[in-house]
Amino acid sequence: MSQQVSGVLSNLERVLLDADEIQARVAALGQTVGADFAGNELTVVVLLDGALFFVADLVRQIDLPVRLYSLTVSSYHGGMVSTGQVEMAPKFPFDLKGRHVLLVDDILDTGLTLSSVIDKLQEAGPPASLKTAVLLRKDRQREREVAADYVGFDIADEFVVGYGMDYQGHYRNLPCIGILNPS
Ligand code: PRP
Repeated sequence: MSQQVSGVLSNLERVLLDADEIQARVAALGQTVGADFAGNELTVVVLLDGALFFVADLVRQIDLPVRLYSLTVSSYHGGMVSTGQVEMAPKFPFDLKGRHVLLVDDILDTGLTLSSVIDKLQEAGPPASLKTAVLLRKDRQREREVAADYVGFDIADEFVVGYGMDYQGHYRNLPCIGILNPS
């Protein structure tokens, strides 16, 4: 899976997941979601910015009526470690009561982001059902336990960039996911 890289990707120490692997896995996840929610309309809520590319590829593989909403949520502020403070709008600008909701995030790390959004969503009025999808799930102890219902890849506890994920605002546009060169 991993490989040495060069050229435009030279700031990466190595590629963890290449573009083809990501696309194949996301397609499979989308098809699974579509089968699981068959006969229903699905409301997808994506947590930006990191999950931008994941959700775009995922929803196009879901063969159902889909509503798509976004929330900007931030706790890393460009760095490599969660600040522990999850920032988001005080109120959802949409109503999820009675809807079948799929929350989509790029990575499950400390669990603070997803758990904060789930708390707020439940306070706002219970959806008919609530599932979560993450592209990456880090192997680590979480500060808040969150069940991810759909997981693209389980990865080691390393800082990753690419396919939406950043370091100080950079690398989101890489088609692959990689580990940054420490230098
Ligand atoms: C990252 C990532 C997830 C969250 C996961 O967001 O996109 O939303 O952290 O980490 P957690 O499980 O420790 O909460 P970030 O704050 O970097 O904002 P971004 O999505 O705009 O990059």
